[in-house]
Amino acid sequence: MISARNITLAYGKRVLFDEVNINFIKGNCYGVIGANGAGKSTFLKILSGEIEPNKGHVEITPGERLSFLKQNQFEFDNETVLNTVLMGHKKMWDIMHKKDAIYADPDATEDDYMKAGELEAEFGEMGDMNQKVTQRTF
Ligand SMILES: Nc1ncnc2c1ncn2[C@@H]1O[C@H](COP(=O)(O)OP(=O)(O)OP(=O)(O)O)[C@@H](O)[C@H]1O
Ligand SMILES: [Mg+2]
Repeated sequence: MISARNITLAYGKRVLFDEVNINFIKGNCYGVIGANGAGKSTFLKILSGEIEPNKGHVEITPGERLSFLKQNQFEFDNETVLNTVLMGHKKMWDIMHKKDAIYADPDATEDDYMKAGELEAEFGEMGDMNQKVTQRTF
């Protein structure tokens, strides 16, 4: 669960959020709706920790992880939907590529294959986390 507690944020005199409290519950799918400039992206940046609110805080259930896509609808035009989601978990994405590069290298050495084995183990340990990949577009 992601919980926003008493989130307050103003830019100068423009108050975007005043004591906002909301819980995002596992299994639900949420959409944030509002006029241009209402504060949707800003709210999601607060949820992700990219910016700090003036007051309040965000809690995420221990062991869960939040990933997000920024509001740039062209950034992933050349990627499949699956890869776009997987990229949200940067560490896992990097490991996948490192081990795949070793397997694809015809000159890979014994040491390289040892390294690939270690990466494979690390990748395997992420199995449970992979199921928790959460992507939000904003
Ligand atoms: N760093 C900042 N400093 C000052 N004002 C900001 C800053 N970031 C955003 N704002 C202002 O806060 C308001 C909310 O911006 P935000 O980008 O969150 O809106 P939005 O709801 O995502 O809009 P859109 O629908 O256009 O994506 C806007 O008026 C914006 O100009
Ligand atoms: Mg926005």
